[in-house]
Amino acid sequence: MCGIVGYCGTQDAQSVLLDGLKRLEYRGYDSSGLAVNTSAGLKTVRAVGKVSELLRALKTRRLAGSTGIAHTRWATHGMPTEANAHPHRDCTESVAVVHNGIIENHASLRARLEQSGHAFASETDTEVIAHLIEDALKDGAQLSHAVGAVLPMLEGTYGIVVASSLEPDTLVAARLGSPLILGIARDGYILASDASAILQHTRDIVYLDDREIVAITRAEYHIRTFENVTVQKPVETIDGEAADLQKHGYAHFMLKEMMEQPDVVLNSTRGRLDAENGTAVLGGLRDVEKQLRDIKRIVIVACGSAYYAGCVGEYMLEEYAGIPVEVELASEFRYRKPILDSGTAVVAISQSGETADTLFAVREAKEKGALTLGIVNVVGSSIARETHAGVYNHAGPEIGVASTKAFLSQVVVLSLFTLVLGRQRALSLVMGQRIVKELLALPHQIQVLLDCREPYRAAAELLADAHHALFLGRKYCHPIAHEGALKLKEISYIHAEGYAAGEMKHGPIALVEDGFPVVVIAPRDSVFEKSMSNLHEIRARGGSVILVTTEGAPYDASLVDRVITIPKTLEMLTPLLAVIPLQFLAYEAACARAFDPDMPRNLAKSVTVE
Ligand code: M6R
Repeated sequence: MCGIVGYCGTQDAQSVLLDGLKRLEYRGYDSSGLAVNTSAGLKTVRAVGKVSELLRALKTRRLAGSTGIAHTRWATHGMPTEANAHPHRDCTESVAVVHNGIIENHASLRARLEQSGHAFASETDTEVIAHLIEDALKDGAQLSHAVGAVLPMLEGTYGIVVASSLEPDTLVAARLGSPLILGIARDGYILASDASAILQHTRDIVYLDDREIVAITRAEYHIRTFENVTVQKPVETIDGEAADLQKHGYAHFMLKEMMEQPDVVLNSTRGRLDAENGTAVLGGLRDVEKQLRDIKRIVIVACGSAYYAGCVGEYMLEEYAGIPVEVELASEFRYRKPILDSGTAVVAISQSGETADTLFAVREAKEKGALTLGIVNVVGSSIARETHAGVYNHAGPEIGVASTKAFLSQVVVLSLFTLVLGRQRALSLVMGQRIVKELLALPHQIQVLLDCREPYRAAAELLADAHHALFLGRKYCHPIAHEGALKLKEISYIHAEGYAAGEMKHGPIALVEDGFPVVVIAPRDSVFEKSMSNLHEIRARGGSVILVTTEGAPYDASLVDRVITIPKTLEMLTPLLAVIPLQFLAYEAACARAFDPDMPRNLAKSVTVE
């Protein structure tokens, strides 16, 4: 999704901003631009396409100065054109604005501004902000006060940063529903929509909250609320190194992140497994331990891959903790008038912790009196801060747009959560100990799957030329079928559907014809035999079968075209192994089709608009 960088300091702003934009590329975007206060005024350069296009444009128009703002745009209002790229300007060209989010009342604001003589240069919702600030500056107001005066007129969500030639060494930023952080570096201040644009300069961060405005100069920053109350905020030192954001010799971030998965399990479980008592110790839930004992129902809210992780959690929690669980797409949850009370825990799962739909679902749940918990990867993100309690994934930064290691860590954390809730209830010590033992074995088992990748390449050959594919799974592997299909469609653009294997004969079997590829995820578990009947049904209609099953499983080799085996583990942990080959199938298919798996078209890493 759109990315923001702002810099005010002693360095060359253009270099700092461009470096920041490159580090935000992973979020997904279709144009970019920057504005710098130069000796000749506030100058803007924008370009359609990659940041490399912007670099090209800057070759002949270098912007020299030490205060500026920059943006990568993911089109919402208006096509990805240079005119629609940020920063946006006012009529006098003294103001430049970058914006993440959506201004919902932009049409009425625009009409009013046009009536009073403002001329618009773009189709975006953002441009109204620049013109409104222009008006607010007319009576000689300071930039910070002008921005403060405009914010109450805006409906929707925003993270904005504003520069002005009237105060060339000042930037003003504000947020409402869209993340913004302030980095405090030796040579100045950096504003950004996520830490990856800041980490190479400093690890000292101030997280802005909704309804806060920050004004920065080279020498200082000042934060206040929309109601004009000064706020003192803690400076937090974030973990992680800029080096985590490099590919380390891998062709793609996605590949690097898949290869990191043994370590991800280690990091997500480190210090959290209590083998003796067959349980997990989750420090982030300590304050709500008593409430957790009393809850009668869990509602999981999430989007995309995180939703499928939640679906695996539903099977785990119902089987081992005996608590009724519902998994809701966060985008639907708040419009359904959900019935919640203090006996319900609402668990929000989100890698970024900034997904707008999931964040709004958390707010809705809080308003209705539910206990809210977060399973979040990005430390300090909005969902992490707004939930009552939660568990961090510790998966490290995930740059690949297609979620891999974060998904895995979400399922791991859900297994730890199951242990905690289960041992508070009827889960036996012996079974708890068994789950812990199997969790400890996972990193090695995943490493085995990563060490032998030839079967994935061979299986991907069956998919690479296909237009459609079906993924089938039962019980714990039903959500994994959906996750495998999502991965494939996201990065290889092959249309793929995930289905509960038992549903095949209720519709999707109509698709199966000669050569139609079906990925069947059928580990040797309690439903293995049932899945084997699917193989017959597919074969009888000429379909090609890629079977993902457990080593030594007794399948009929004449019914399958490719087989990928995974090590044996507990049924509830099988998704953690079965998903690895599916990630590789998608990755290999995308590469075979010459698509960049890190930059899937139209997608954004962090979806901060509804
Ligand atoms: O940051 P989140 O976990 O909240 O993101 C949720 C989805 O947008 C995300 O999982 C998306 O579906 C990925 N592109 C899947 O690969």
